[in-house]
Amino acid sequence: MTANLRRRAAELRTAIEKANYQYHVLDAPTIGDEQYDALMRELIELEAKHPELVTPDSPTQRVGAPPSERFRPVRHVAPMLSLGNAFNEEEIRAFDQRVKKLLGRTGEIDYVCELKIDGLAVNLTYVDGRFTEAATRGDGTAGEDITPNVRTIKAVPLALREKVPGRIDVRGEVYLPVKAFEATNRERAERGEPVFANPRNAAAGAVRQVDPRKTAERDLSIYVYSAAGLEVPTQHDLLERLRDLGFRVNPKWRRATGATAVIAYAAERLAERDDLGYGVDGVVVKVDRVADQERLGYVARTPRWAIAYKFPAEQATTTVEDIKAYVGRTGVLTPVAWLAPVRVGGTTVRRATLHNLDEVRRLDVRAGDRVLVQRAGDVIPEVVAVVAGGRKKRARGWDMPARCPECGGEVEHKEGEVAYRCANPACPAKQGQRLGHFVGAMDIEGAGSAFLTQVQEKGLVSDPADLFDLTMDQLTALDRYAERSAANIHERIQAAREQPLARILVALGVPNTGWTTSEVLAEWLAGELGPKATLAQVFDRLRSAAPDELQAIPGIGPVVASRISEWFADPAEQAFLDKLAVRVRPVMPERRAAEAGPFAGKTVVFTGTLERRSREAAEELVRSLGGKTSGSVSRKTDLVVAGPGAGTKLEKANALGVKVIDEDEFDRLVR
Ligand code: IVH
Repeated sequence: MTANLRRRAAELRTAIEKANYQYHVLDAPTIGDEQYDALMRELIELEAKHPELVTPDSPTQRVGAPPSERFRPVRHVAPMLSLGNAFNEEEIRAFDQRVKKLLGRTGEIDYVCELKIDGLAVNLTYVDGRFTEAATRGDGTAGEDITPNVRTIKAVPLALREKVPGRIDVRGEVYLPVKAFEATNRERAERGEPVFANPRNAAAGAVRQVDPRKTAERDLSIYVYSAAGLEVPTQHDLLERLRDLGFRVNPKWRRATGATAVIAYAAERLAERDDLGYGVDGVVVKVDRVADQERLGYVARTPRWAIAYKFPAEQATTTVEDIKAYVGRTGVLTPVAWLAPVRVGGTTVRRATLHNLDEVRRLDVRAGDRVLVQRAGDVIPEVVAVVAGGRKKRARGWDMPARCPECGGEVEHKEGEVAYRCANPACPAKQGQRLGHFVGAMDIEGAGSAFLTQVQEKGLVSDPADLFDLTMDQLTALDRYAERSAANIHERIQAAREQPLARILVALGVPNTGWTTSEVLAEWLAGELGPKATLAQVFDRLRSAAPDELQAIPGIGPVVASRISEWFADPAEQAFLDKLAVRVRPVMPERRAAEAGPFAGKTVVFTGTLERRSREAAEELVRSLGGKTSGSVSRKTDLVVAGPGAGTKLEKANALGVKVIDEDEFDRLVR
């Protein structure tokens, strides 16, 4: 009996995953929605009656419970790289020349050209053919665990179509199709929530949802383009192999021999860019043969064997209806052009930033002017130039208002600075922006601008820490908040009391301190204060940190260091920090298992050129794995990692009988 049920469950799973594959990967469905739903219903019922039949890769498990350790850091097996850019034909020809020279070839090089999908880079891990983990790119070395969220994307196979023994790591781009992006923005606008600037931000928002059910509601998809752990002789073999294993590979890739063929490929793709249905910001050109890729190697984190050939920014002409100053989170007034709506590369643009007063003067842009606007990559649209032949009698030149347009407060301008700021610390616009930033970073779903405006106007909240004190009575008294929606928002706010430290640091809104810096800071603080630190201890530590001390943390430069130290010492922030410290608990990042690491207690020396990372990054890696690093070889040295060009240190190591390895072996140790 159970054997029969087990067999039936397996049959259903196979049939459903096959249907998923045909629909989501091949774009060629073979069964209708009703039939699919019937199979799914039968499996759900069967598993409900016999929970022992549930397997981790059952299609019913795509939307599981939220994880306890959401967004935990994940170290990548091999770094996730970024690409150098080419912006025109000459730069592609120069790239091709460089490749030829480095490989010592006279004949044309075989390349593979792919679309550069504008989404969010992810790493998918499969062990013995089963999906086990998904992570964001993060800083390239480590990202965040987003497994439950990615599992909801039906184009991601939970089991490969052929069992591949061991571990493979597949890289690709999670993206939101343009239609789904526009629908999301329409819904957000209706709910009074801020709209996403581009599909990539929307995809990132969906992937970083705390509740995977929310991720599942968006129509996310994926295209994969690389893998670690699959042995193939060429990139085109890799793409074919990935497709055969059940992954979604963008079908527009082509082999191209020589720079001229690459340029022709890019021109064709550019012509069809707006009809693809997903965002593409260029093409990626890769040397096809893996052996050649290995010979070409890397400079820092950029391969010498691949390049991104960026499409030109998308531009359109329209009319400036007005210019207004917009007050941001830090009180800076930004001039914004209000435009007659215009389509630019697939989306409708209504406003464009003018950056600052200097830029307004440089462009000499005025209300009524015809202007050229552009969207480039992920930036908010901007005004590029005033188009000649506009109105004869022009409006007066625009100037910064003397008073804040939101609160009437005085506008300050320091000599020699570009920025104009509202001086009123209680300016509602500043507070509103700050609240919006806080709820976004702390992932408090449903606290959109309509909600924030209400709690602000009713005087319930003046800084973000006040959100945690909102009571059910206060929430049910808000307009359009019935018992149920009040309870929802209350629950979400309370759930945000415990958060990874990096997230809290981002949410504070310290100038120049985004995700990357916050993650670095959080790691450092965990080292300083240990795994059980409180937020009060964290703030104290940051208040007492001099810029020099912060600057000594790898990844933090002088400007950022002084901004952080100024901000934490600012008397105007103290009340807020104190309030927040008693309301929110940080989850400190896990220190990597230093005692058990491959370098525990060992002293390592690097010499010669490293091809896949900088010397600093390699040393940091050793330290994070429990080792020490040194600049010179002695009897105390345990290991020397030697790259090309190693000289006296290598000789000394050999003379002393110290173990010497190359970068490949180092890679195997750090995996
Ligand atoms: S290859 C060497 N291929 O572009 C391998 N990347 O700046 C590097 N991207 O982080 C990546 N489409 O997020 C590659 N077909 C494609 C891509 C692609 C989009 C993104 C990816 C990467 C960034 C590189």
